[in-house]
Amino acid sequence: MELRRCAVVWVEPREVAHFALDDLLAGGTGVVSRMAWFAHAPHLGGAFEVDAAAVPPLGEVSPVDWVPREQLDLRFGAEVVDALVDAGLLLGRREDEAVLADAGYRVLGWHAAAAVAHLATRWEAVDGPRGMAEQGLDSNEGLLRQHGSPPPLEAPAEHLAPCVRLPRPARDDFDGLLDTRATCRNFDPFAELPLATFSRVMARVFGTRGVGHPAPGFDVVKRTSPSGGALHPVECFLIVQRVAGITPGLYRYRMDGHALEAVVPRAPPPCNGDAGVRPGDVDAQVAWGPEALHAFARIAVAGQDFFADAPVLCVLAPRFHRNFWKYRNHAKAYRVCVLDAGHLSQTLQLCATEAGLGPFVTGAINEVDLERAFGMDPRVQSPIAVCGFGPRAATLRESEFDPNRKVWPRG
Ligand SMILES: Cc1cc2nc3c(=O)[nH]c(=O)nc-3n(C[C@H](O)[C@H](O)[C@H](O)COP(=O)(O)O)c2cc1C
Repeated sequence: MELRRCAVVWVEPREVAHFALDDLLAGGTGVVSRMAWFAHAPHLGGAFEVDAAAVPPLGEVSPVDWVPREQLDLRFGAEVVDALVDAGLLLGRREDEAVLADAGYRVLGWHAAAAVAHLATRWEAVDGPRGMAEQGLDSNEGLLRQHGSPPPLEAPAEHLAPCVRLPRPARDDFDGLLDTRATCRNFDPFAELPLATFSRVMARVFGTRGVGHPAPGFDVVKRTSPSGGALHPVECFLIVQRVAGITPGLYRYRMDGHALEAVVPRAPPPCNGDAGVRPGDVDAQVAWGPEALHAFARIAVAGQDFFADAPVLCVLAPRFHRNFWKYRNHAKAYRVCVLDAGHLSQTLQLCATEAGLGPFVTGAINEVDLERAFGMDPRVQSPIAVCGFGPRAATLRESEFDPNRKVWPRG
């Protein structure tokens, strides 16, 4: 049998802390820490702890050339080699799950550092507001107490650098639109979005305005947002809760036909208050009802209840290889996918505002739960942000940043 290492693995020395009653009873703090090695292996979908004895082989075995297993046993010991094979970090030629994942990863064109960063920063079943509250960081006072003062809004002007004063621009209607954009944290939890309004926002943000054919088999589209290489890898998956005429459910927006394709959830329906989505039997899943969808919306935005009330949530998820096909193993490619998602989210903010609706975008999302429900392989496609839009509630409960009272007139 011959083995080689997986294509990419980065090893992180990490301090791991846990609560120990013994330590507390013995007069300690109750928090005991130890150093551990974690292997970040993008083909396996994340990082996991490995024994210290497993670290040297990861640095010495080639990811390209095959080596007879006996040689590795002699150098590192059969037990260590077994552990690395079981973990999917050393791979044979037989097509098991790890080998297939590694082979798939090798052709996807990920820049290694970007793959490690993307997979290591995904959340699963995280409740963001609760986490902030537990750390005492859910108020400005708490932030200032723990972090000190923030850096000033602008870097101070260079001592002798001259300033060129710019003319004050005249206002027009576009300024009016820009000034009424504000992140909405007060959706009307009952309001239904008219179909025509929903359709117009979707068409303006995610629809195509034109097509190009740079070469045979290579098609590009024009959208209202820019995209690196005009490749537009970012797809919009939807949690539709209340749009007139559309059955509540999970969907994927199809650019080609300006249509919603129903997605059968690949996981059991979550319940109200669940932190995450349980893995489930992929073939036995059914459409989710309104309660499960609302529970899922809350999971999607990591427990931010105020966003979960939006009638429509848009999950922005690049199909990475659409970009990496051109920008292969490219240091900027992943960053461009993230920027593309940011552009779409800003266009969505403006289009929703123009329609008289409240918009939001959040990066505090549970990517793993979203991938699980929508059936995404994170190496192929994975969420970057969640946006949403819908009618505002009549009264302000959660704070919004509206210093000039353009959205919430003084009462
Ligand atoms: C990338 C990104 C991530 C954000 N994530 C969150 C979030 O997790 N929760 C939240 O309440 N607002 C979030 N926001 C909204 C910002 O808090 C908001 O833009 C900011 O307070 C300024 O308010 P404005 O959008 O009304 O101008 C996010 C905004 C951006 C651009």
